[in-house]
Amino acid sequence: MKTGDGSTTIHIPEWNEQYHSKHGAIQEANHVFIKMGLNEFLEQENLKEISILEIGFGTGLNALVTWAASKDKGVKINYNGVEAYPVAVEEVSQLNFANEIATVNAVTVFEKMHETAWEDFHEITEDFILKKQQKFFHEIEEHHAYDLIYFDAFGARVQPELWTVEIFEKMYKATKQNGVLVTYAAKGSVRRAMLEVGYKVERLQGPPGKREMLRATKV
Ligand SMILES: C[S@@+](CC[C@H](N)C(=O)[O-])C[C@H]1O[C@@H](n2cnc3c(N)ncnc32)[C@H](O)[C@@H]1O
Repeated sequence: MKTGDGSTTIHIPEWNEQYHSKHGAIQEANHVFIKMGLNEFLEQENLKEISILEIGFGTGLNALVTWAASKDKGVKINYNGVEAYPVAVEEVSQLNFANEIATVNAVTVFEKMHETAWEDFHEITEDFILKKQQKFFHEIEEHHAYDLIYFDAFGARVQPELWTVEIFEKMYKATKQNGVLVTYAAKGSVRRAMLEVGYKVERLQGPPGKREMLRATKV
């Protein structure tokens, strides 16, 4: 289905849920994960190489916008996308993200992101290394591994078990010192779960169509 900014997303009829905001898939990804996540983190930390964990690789949109946003910044990205239920190739081929973001080589890069095998590191471009891992979020056991976490699970309305203290404990352990987690969600219960595991939490302006979002920092 088409979203408000002309970019497509996948709709799940049984849950009445989408992979992205109905107001604009690319717009949401750029606001929540790039503007409030990647860009602000790089401004604060000024690193030459960072590791990103994505909670729900899904269609690969967040990986694509991260590549596009980072490609002229002189930073190397190690991108780890965790996903239990990979999106079928036929569905990916119906998404228009690569054309819509209008960045040179986006179509080739997006195809490469999807063609590369799971479980290994692949050089998508010189400065963008991708590892897709097919597993459940609760199987994540890394410690101090990631500078930035994109927490992009389906909403708590449909998957409340993914917005719990138990899951955020795993996220907190996986976050490096001064690392940041960003999510489109703004619910009080989610904020409290983040605070309980030790994150400092900020409410930030949300993407179009949503008043607020959350950013959590491991200070
Ligand atoms: C909101 S979508 C992610 C959208 C994605 N970031 C994108 O840009 O397309 C949530 C994703 O989490 C995956 N998922 C749901 N439950 C999961 C679980 N327990 N473990 C791992 N992945 C899960 C879904 O298959 C879906 O791809």
